[in-house]
Amino acid sequence: MTGQTDIPANVKGALDLDPWLTPYARTLSSRRNLADKWLQEIKESTKDKNLTLAEFAREAYASYGLHANKVTREITYREWAPNAKRAFLVGDFNSWDETKNELIERDAYGVFSGVIPPTATNDYAIPHDSRVKVVFELEDGSRIYRLPAWITRATQPDKETAAQWGPSYEARFWNPENVYKFKHKRPSFNPDQESLKIYEAHVGISTPEEKVGSYKEFTANILPRIKELGYNAVQLMAIMEHAYYASFGYQVTNFFAASSRFGNPEELKELIDTAHGMGIMVFLDVVHSHASKNVTDGINMFDGSDHQYFHSLTSGRGEHPLWDSRLFNYGSFEVKRFLLANLAFYIDFYGFDGFRFDGVTSMLYLHHGVGEGGAFSGNYDEYLSEFSAVDEEAVAYLMLANDLLHELLPKGGTAIAEDVSGYPTLCLPRSIGGVGFDYRLGMALPDMWIKLLKEKKDEDWDMGQITHTLSNRRYREKVVAYAESHDQALVGDKTLAFWLMDAAMYTDMTTLKPATLVVDRGIALHKLIRLITHSLGGESYLNFEGNEFGHPEWLDFPNANNGDSYRYARRQFNLVDDKLLRYKHLNDFDKAIQHTEGKYKWLNTPPAYVSLKHETDKMIVFERNGLLFIFNFHPTESYSEYRVGVEEPGCYRIVLNSDKKDFGGYDRIDDKNSEFFTTPLEWNNRKNYIQVYIPSRVALVLTKQE
Ligand SMILES: *[C@@H]1O[C@H](CO)[C@@H](O)[C@H](O)[C@H]1NC(C)=O
Repeated sequence: MTGQTDIPANVKGALDLDPWLTPYARTLSSRRNLADKWLQEIKESTKDKNLTLAEFAREAYASYGLHANKVTREITYREWAPNAKRAFLVGDFNSWDETKNELIERDAYGVFSGVIPPTATNDYAIPHDSRVKVVFELEDGSRIYRLPAWITRATQPDKETAAQWGPSYEARFWNPENVYKFKHKRPSFNPDQESLKIYEAHVGISTPEEKVGSYKEFTANILPRIKELGYNAVQLMAIMEHAYYASFGYQVTNFFAASSRFGNPEELKELIDTAHGMGIMVFLDVVHSHASKNVTDGINMFDGSDHQYFHSLTSGRGEHPLWDSRLFNYGSFEVKRFLLANLAFYIDFYGFDGFRFDGVTSMLYLHHGVGEGGAFSGNYDEYLSEFSAVDEEAVAYLMLANDLLHELLPKGGTAIAEDVSGYPTLCLPRSIGGVGFDYRLGMALPDMWIKLLKEKKDEDWDMGQITHTLSNRRYREKVVAYAESHDQALVGDKTLAFWLMDAAMYTDMTTLKPATLVVDRGIALHKLIRLITHSLGGESYLNFEGNEFGHPEWLDFPNANNGDSYRYARRQFNLVDDKLLRYKHLNDFDKAIQHTEGKYKWLNTPPAYVSLKHETDKMIVFERNGLLFIFNFHPTESYSEYRVGVEEPGCYRIVLNSDKKDFGGYDRIDDKNSEFFTTPLEWNNRKNYIQVYIPSRVALVLTKQE
């Protein structure tokens, strides 16, 4: 135990925010010390150059891998492979001749480097987009064939090659004459003042057609939708190259290669630049928590050993117990170089504006949040005691990753943690002793909604529990709220809309007949669930593509079990474009939420004050940033003169009304002509009240008239 008197200065800020952390001050401090020690080591490794972390990462991606020198027309190649004795570059360019291009230099750490001189006509010796491989000779004289670990492009083999050599991805040297020229600056974003509204998307499924969508199609067809809806960030999944499409991008094989299924690197740049031109930031769903086990087209067993990038197989830390994948050794200097350079590369080369770090819970704990280790009660011992099973190297790595991001993008660079454990200090700044993330995903929220829809009748919904779950977050640690993400859409589960309306979505979504009871309920609750999650659940909001209009069904990628079908690996934007279907109502409501927030701001403001959660009336009322939110979850009761408390006196008017016809409601409230004058009598702990007409399953947002 550390007494108040000897609180380590390097975590004092975090303890000031949460005094309950005080008994764990020494643990927090030593975790920070490890990251700071690593920072020092990195600095020292750059010797008299005295590079910063960002300069270190940039130098790494600019020197490792293959690089064309525009002036000399030489190509340089650098690769770390400590278990190898010799290394050779082969490819179409030298007819796969293993004797021609040996990487002559090998330093004490096992880093090979070499130069491929220009041709006799002073051209690059390796043609643009031609295939290459690295061959390592091991101690025993055997040779292994790998894709360069830093390769920026890998493609599926054509049929002939696959028949002869197997289905492994092929590395390509990307060196186009015409490099895409960025036209737009990154959108300015001040995370302290502005709200973050994220549209989560997967390029391949962003088409109604049964095929793999492309970067170009996304740029042309989806970005305008995102803009119109009012989101200011798009979060792209499955960008890092993954040989297995059905892994949804989470079994990465080539960390520096943007998935070639969707197009080429220049086309991804164009996508990001176009988003920037619309004022939309682009985040990368970055997978540094684990890696595909593939050897011939991944980085597993890269230098022939089982412990180069990863913990060894015999250590018990080298494999994920559930994901059938390899786990990085964050303690290794070269692994840190690889991963940090990887982050800097996506920011510099493509223009990404931030990261959603996948699998943070798995990284943080030696038990990976699996089995008993996954049952977090919130007791601080689970995170910060000697029994906490925290992987301090992973914590330190995440600290450095966040340092790097914030050094590269000091204004607006955004880091989001996929953490379900609730690790305290995860989203506090590094400077006060936090891990340095800007946001964590509010992973308890979608779970709550699914559970309610699966297990509870509407009349049994617990207003207290709903408001508690939506408001339950750590002081000053921001949360991205969401009702459903890609997780909830995966096969085995289904979208919220489908939980609500199920098979009725195939027959009853038409506007040509009155809504059935099922569709009526589904549309009403879909709106309420999104609005209350948006307004009460966090400091930022996330929507997974398609769910803004109540996408039916689920997601299932082509695989052996479904006969390689794309039927469920697409988003049916045709549904929302069909004026005779009710999806457009849900879409327009989503748009109204984002734009109302854009105008009146509630996300990036202090948490709401909940003045009412009434179990019999099924009413929830709260205020946030001066706005008044009123929800009636009752399945049947409408209230004509419902009294709700409000702190500030004045005249209130409606700025968002879920009952509007445009949103699939009944226009029962004349919101244009409604003015609500407060009565100066205390009600529900607020100084004033107003009385409103609030029909069953309707939500209203009011603002005070100036
Ligand atoms: C491993 O590679 C093969 C082709 O080489 C591919 O079919 C498979 O999906 C890959 N697996 C993973 C998990 O990346």
